[in-house]
Amino acid sequence: MTGIATAPNTRGTAGNAVEVHGIVKHFGSTKALDGVDLTVREGTVLALLGPNGAGKTTLVRVLSTLIKPDAGSAFVGGYDVVRQPKQLRRTIGLTGQYASVDELLSGYENLYLIGRLLDLSSRDSKARAAELLERFSLTEAAKRTAKTYSGGMRRRLDLAASMMGRPRVLYLDEPTTGLDPRTRNEVWDEVQRMVSEGSTVLLTTQYMEEAEQLADELTVIDRGKVIANGGVAELKARVGGQILQVRPAHPAELPEMARCLHESGITSATVSPDDGLLAVPLAGEEQLTAVIGVLGGRGFAIAGIDTKVPSLDEVFLAITGKPTAGPATAPAAALVKEPVA
Ligand SMILES: Nc1ncnc2c1ncn2[C@@H]1O[C@H](COP(=O)(O)OP(=O)(O)O)[C@@H](O)[C@H]1O
Ligand SMILES: [Mg+2]
Repeated sequence: MTGIATAPNTRGTAGNAVEVHGIVKHFGSTKALDGVDLTVREGTVLALLGPNGAGKTTLVRVLSTLIKPDAGSAFVGGYDVVRQPKQLRRTIGLTGQYASVDELLSGYENLYLIGRLLDLSSRDSKARAAELLERFSLTEAAKRTAKTYSGGMRRRLDLAASMMGRPRVLYLDEPTTGLDPRTRNEVWDEVQRMVSEGSTVLLTTQYMEEAEQLADELTVIDRGKVIANGGVAELKARVGGQILQVRPAHPAELPEMARCLHESGITSATVSPDDGLLAVPLAGEEQLTAVIGVLGGRGFAIAGIDTKVPSLDEVFLAITGKPTAGPATAPAAALVKEPVA
């Protein structure tokens, strides 16, 4: 996005739906955002990935004009979050981490009301509500109060609500946190559909799998700071492209095997005792030969080897030194099979 004459500090850069420069936000002594930069290009999905408390919701609130940043600047659809809040609000749709539907109203009434709040005519509000209820498979439940809806139905209603004003940019703040896998898949399908229809999406999530499913690019945030960003494949490549897994014939030898590799300068080798595996992120093919050479040379019996592409959980762990969700319980180099829920 270089070479375009728009000055970045007045409108943002053309082609960027969201542009964030050095945003800082304190809550008392908590530095929720500590100089965040990120970009979401028009028509793409950016996953803002980070553990609980990383600052994701705070950034979404800044970008929704709900709170003012202490420093930095941000533009959405070319509008300045601080100086052009009204125009900016008309550009965005927001689905919060917690469903914001009115429980006492029906699905239809919720959407109609939002349409009217957005200054749509009564006729347009009705038509748009009916269209979205159909699309989110809520037509049959349209007249029931939202109180009677299942978690998945509520989340779908919430998504529909954020779409009422045909926003150019959608913020989805942890849209599937707390949902069962089936409902999560339904929400993913909807998000993919919105994107295929041209929406730009800023999605916050604690789940690698979600980012991998939905996002073009990732920005990883931790304690208010961006610690990595790039394409999914790019971030994976950062942990070495491939991981070599060695299964020893005698699992009790795992620590000794790791020690020998470390002594030979292969310091990235880690042990996963639960799986009975030794894992080595590979910097290149020659390293595979080196690992096998060292282990064979020391007389370790190997039952099997395998290479695999790292999961995003492993990418996150490699970058942050902690698993994707929950407290930092694992040592920096451990291999985590499943995120701590
Ligand atoms: N209104 C608030 N008052 C005080 N502290 C807050 C407030 N909102 C967020 N925080 C703190 O800011 C940090 C980031 O929170 P948040 O943006 O909600 O993280 P995330 O959405 O990534 O879980 C946390 O330490 C949180 O406790
Ligand atoms: Mg949050």
